[in-house]
Amino acid sequence: MRIVMIGAGYVGLVSGACFADFGHDVTCVDKDADRIAALNQCRIPIFEPDLDKLIESGINSGRLMFGTNLSSIGDADAVFIAVGTPSRRGDGHADLSYVRAAAREVAARLEGFTVVVTKSTVPVGTGDEVERIIRETNPAVDFAVVANPEFLREGAAIRDFQHPDRIVVGTEDERARKVMGQIYRPLYLNQAPILYTSRRTAELIKYAANAFLATKITFINEIADLAERVGANVQDVARGIGLDNRIGAKFLHAGPGYGGSCFPKDTRALSKTALDYGVQLRVVEATLTVNETRKRTMSRKVAGALDNDIRGKTIAVLGLTFKPDTDDMREAPSIALIAGLLDFGAKVRAHDPVGMEQAKKELSGIEYCDDPYSCARGADALVIVTEWRQFRALDLERIKTDMATPVIVDLRNIYRPEDVRSAGFKYESIGRQ
Ligand SMILES: NC(=O)c1ccc[n+]([C@@H]2O[C@H](COP(=O)([O-])OP(=O)(O)OC[C@H]3O[C@@H](n4cnc5c(N)ncnc54)[C@H](O)[C@@H]3O)[C@@H](O)[C@H]2O)c1
Repeated sequence: MRIVMIGAGYVGLVSGACFADFGHDVTCVDKDADRIAALNQCRIPIFEPDLDKLIESGINSGRLMFGTNLSSIGDADAVFIAVGTPSRRGDGHADLSYVRAAAREVAARLEGFTVVVTKSTVPVGTGDEVERIIRETNPAVDFAVVANPEFLREGAAIRDFQHPDRIVVGTEDERARKVMGQIYRPLYLNQAPILYTSRRTAELIKYAANAFLATKITFINEIADLAERVGANVQDVARGIGLDNRIGAKFLHAGPGYGGSCFPKDTRALSKTALDYGVQLRVVEATLTVNETRKRTMSRKVAGALDNDIRGKTIAVLGLTFKPDTDDMREAPSIALIAGLLDFGAKVRAHDPVGMEQAKKELSGIEYCDDPYSCARGADALVIVTEWRQFRALDLERIKTDMATPVIVDLRNIYRPEDVRSAGFKYESIGRQ
């Protein structure tokens, strides 16, 4: 199959490189010329484990190409739209301006029957709108619009794409269904189930999945707050409920609140879409509010660990990205935490294994350190915000000697309280004594 991927971000790059690996001919197009120039020299603009090797092998095989214009669309069997759908400023709806612009650009160049696929996360009804835009721009063209939401997780994106739990294809067009079947055939041979649904159903599946996962995290976070008060251990509670097959153990890790490029914006967009249709999703709305508040209150937790005497104190923050194995800073809990600490008058230093370049665009007024130990030196408290592997076995003795006061606030519960306390620290974590 000949595929054009519009948008060479996290989703477009991973999907494009994986499709090329399946044996398809893929051209990834991005309007960011610097990004494309870097990719053509095998320099990868994002951090995603093993993506560099996959892209290099795609380029070497001649099946993966990068460009800034849509000249190859005429020959394509399928054009995937994988551009961003961020929260719209002001009202939290999904901003569809990039999707609409891509649809207009595609429409002008289509030749012969082509499947236009929305891989971006888009609200219900966007497929209808993309179809309308293409028809209005180029009435003569033969095409079908399919919704094919992506479920990959940053940090494990290639594995997720190559071994998905399911592939969702939303179309009622028989020809489009055949093309999509051909594109995903290698995964189908691997037994990955393909779920064919209506287009609107496929669009809703993606939002329902993200909202459910965000709710699950938020639920255990609230249980963690209660566990702290009543003297219970949230990790044991999570295990105790997670072993129930109806609940499942995943997404039950209490922490500082979810962030990232998807959950916050997708839960907001879902609740706005529902209101547009006269439905109030109260559970999703509660999840949104609880999570936003939680991210901010983490700074109070840190202040509490210093007996609320935090003005002028130095706080060392370990981990800035919204989760490990990515450089993505979008809506990371570290942002609200650090803003809160600075508002309290604290000085903040931070270290992240790969996210510091991205973090510098979001967080100013803090000192960036090259490693966890220089970050901790002279600090009054050390806060673990992202559970990078590099932070799981720190030399506690060395850190204790170097810190001004030995206080650790572990917002990811990566240490055992008894180990840290016996090393001489005051230790606070989430949902545990
Ligand atoms: N990041 C994830 O983990 C993830 C997972 C599943 C789904 N999604 C969804 O996939 C979509 C893309 O997310 P992302 O994280 O890859 O975004 P991103 O911001 O990393 O990448 C989007 C890219 O599209 C490019 N672009 C925008 N308009 C363009 C146009 N008209 N022509 C060519 N290029 C254009 C931008 O320059 C940018 O490089 C979003 O809807 C997101 O919700 C993301």
